Amino acid sequence: VIFDSSLEASKLVAQEIANLIQLKQELNETCVLGLATGSSPIKVYEELVRLHKEEDLSFYNVVTFNLDEYYPMDKSNIQSYHYFMHEHLFNHIDIVPENINIPDGTVSNEELHQYCIDYEMKIKAYGGLDFQLLGIGRTGHIGFNEPGSHLNSGTRSITLDHITRVDAASAFLGIDNVPRKAITMGIGTIKNAKRIVLLAWGNNKAGILQKSIEGEITGNIPATYLQEHNNTTFVLDSEAAQEL
Ligand code: GLP
Repeated sequence: VIFDSSLEASKLVAQEIANLIQLKQELNETCVLGLATGSSPIKVYEELVRLHKEEDLSFYNVVTFNLDEYYPMDKSNIQSYHYFMHEHLFNHIDIVPENINIPDGTVSNEELHQYCIDYEMKIKAYGGLDFQLLGIGRTGHIGFNEPGSHLNSGTRSITLDHITRVDAASAFLGIDNVPRKAITMGIGTIKNAKRIVLLAWGNNKAGILQKSIEGEITGNIPATYLQEHNNTTFVLDSEAAQEL
């Protein structure tokens, strides 16, 4: 779906999420959201905060699982996804703190493998993700599933692609400060979500979006795996869609 403005698009995506949360409330069910970081979802979070403050949207029945986190990474670090999520969403809504799940960049190397298995199991224990919000990296990564990621991969630690580290360099005041590793949900984890919405704005994403949407399915561009999912929408602004 192509919109003239990312603001208009973000408001509609936020409304879809709000409708799902409220439907689950009527059914007395938990709403399990997979959430993303980066610049792309910021306006969706702003609109969800507005709906909470001005239109009584409650998050009491919401459980969240974030896609990824740099590794190693302290939670208090302003570059952490932990910090990002609290700053843009969790500090401003009535979500139960125990219902927030973000991969923990402070677990030890020895515990990391088991930690990832437990994260995956926790998502499954809730019956999987009802809704997964995604951005896309210039490598075609979703979460931090870089080129070469397997279709059935689960939550695990990965090595970041050089292009991804270049793109993160300004936030870290230089590429040398960008972590080399991250924890990410897998392609398999994401593809098990009942509904997926990928957001992308601006012309620097146009090339990878053309390949992701119209190109052949390949592990070299992990976002192409979404072509096989039966309930995925790419929500783009006109600049991001200019090579389609
Ligand atoms: C990071 C995140 C991704 C995100 C991507 C794009 O690599 N791990 O989940 O989709 O950045 O970020 P942006 O939305 O800022 O373009």
